Amino acid sequence: MIKRFGVSIDKNLLGRFDELIEEEGYSSRSGAIEDMIREKILKKEVEQGVKERMGVITAVYDHSSINAVKELLDIQHEFGKVYATMHIHLDEGRCLEIIAAEGNPRKISNLGNRIRSIKGVIHASLIFTC
Ligand code: NI
Repeated sequence: MIKRFGVSIDKNLLGRFDELIEEEGYSSRSGAIEDMIREKILKKEVEQGVKERMGVITAVYDHSSINAVKELLDIQHEFGKVYATMHIHLDEGRCLEIIAAEGNPRKISNLGNRIRSIKGVIHASLIFTC
């Protein structure tokens, strides 16, 4: 069900918002506002850690680091609810691992932090989704 509502907002701010959402390809304000509300709710739920969420972790690591390869695998086996991983051989020296895991956001954040701190991991990031 769709609910309509009116919003009073600063004219300049609305102008900047319209420019931004046009750049991002939205065809209407409604879609952009809906996405912002979803994002805000997701962020809050992740902070509160009340619901299980999907997290996607990316990790670029040194291919020659046996330690990094082993620890990446060990940590994922230990976590349990890792549903999928994708491994990409970026170049001769670096690999990219994309890991999709489900769980309490705090546990997933912890998983991301553990991966980030592995010796041989060059860069790691984490995003949450529904
Ligand atoms: Ni590789």
